[in-house]
Amino acid sequence: MVRFISVKDMRELIKEEGLEDFFRQVLNFLEDDFVKWKIFRPKARIAEGLGEGTIELMPISDLRYYTFKYVTGYPKNLRWGKQTVTAFGVLADIFSGYPLLLSEMTLLTAIRTAVVAAISAKYLACRSSRSFGIIGTGAQSEFQVLAHYFFCGITDVYYYDKDERAMEKFARNLSAFDLRLHPLSSAEAVCKNSEIITTTTAVYAQQSVIKKEWIKEGTHINAVGGDAPNKTELDPALLESSKVVVEYLPQSQVEGEIQRADSSVVYAELWEIISYEKAGRTSREEVTLFDSVGFAIEDFSVLRLVHQLAEKRGLGQKLDLIANPCDPKDLFSLLI
Ligand SMILES: NC(=O)c1ccc[n+]([C@@H]2O[C@H](COP(=O)([O-])OP(=O)(O)OC[C@H]3O[C@@H](n4cnc5c(N)ncnc54)[C@H](O)[C@@H]3O)[C@@H](O)[C@H]2O)c1
Repeated sequence: MVRFISVKDMRELIKEEGLEDFFRQVLNFLEDDFVKWKIFRPKARIAEGLGEGTIELMPISDLRYYTFKYVTGYPKNLRWGKQTVTAFGVLADIFSGYPLLLSEMTLLTAIRTAVVAAISAKYLACRSSRSFGIIGTGAQSEFQVLAHYFFCGITDVYYYDKDERAMEKFARNLSAFDLRLHPLSSAEAVCKNSEIITTTTAVYAQQSVIKKEWIKEGTHINAVGGDAPNKTELDPALLESSKVVVEYLPQSQVEGEIQRADSSVVYAELWEIISYEKAGRTSREEVTLFDSVGFAIEDFSVLRLVHQLAEKRGLGQKLDLIANPCDPKDLFSLLI
């Protein structure tokens, strides 16, 4: 039987584990898998521009499991009261090919994206960074703040969204945490106040939400919202002058900020930094830039974690998804 983890189950699981503990377990699973990068067979995701958005399939396997995620990016959905990003995923046993887990992944995607950004900041940002800026306070934003709060020790959050209601929602959701919140009226003001910056806007255009001249020496940037062809957030001049780290170069060349630059601007893939094959930050002055688009290993890690925790807790529902005749050669018997 396949275990099914609904949104309700996921909420219950995270509540039971505790938000910070759950994020920490995600971080541990992600770092473990990034270090084991060479045993995976990475491939760029299959992305299709359909209607006014993108639908992507993100498969990967190691020596034990195969996973894939179905994920969408439809910024104009907000007009109809629907989300920009939605996702679900499957974890399967590679020895039988049988699926073991079918899980909601809209919440999981927000969490893993935030934790990966915080991992990049852990290795690339100045250790003394306490101010965090975020541009675009939509669905992903609070997750980004909390991952940097839990793992990078930020104390002050500077934020801007062109939608005032999104800023109010953001402040409400984060009011319970020990963070000083500073609403600002422009992306420029966010950049000028922050040592770590995340961009999480959602627009199908080659935007320059951040300009090079706004960025102070020593800043670390997580560019999260530019994650599809012709969907970018940064001034290309910033790519030329920063230490750029990507997840998986062949995918990032098509979907990341670096689609607007020559790939020679890329310093490393994130796994090389986490495995200490390449140095992270090497001076207080350099500007570091994580060009995040989301990679299949990140979904693999969270699906593996959720599978382990759900098995331990007996959480979720057993789904009758795969036909299971008594005699495996007698599939027809199920219809008699
Ligand atoms: N890199 C990854 O792994 C990854 C994972 C998930 C989502 N994403 C991307 O992150 C982005 C944010 O996702 P979301 O679910 O939060 O979307 P969302 O639609 O909920 O929020 C986006 C917010 O950006 C604001 N915005 C748009 N343009 C702006 C601008 N120029 N200045 C200030 N604010 C602006 C909008 O008003 C909105 O509040 C999307 O582009 C999504 O595709 C990336």
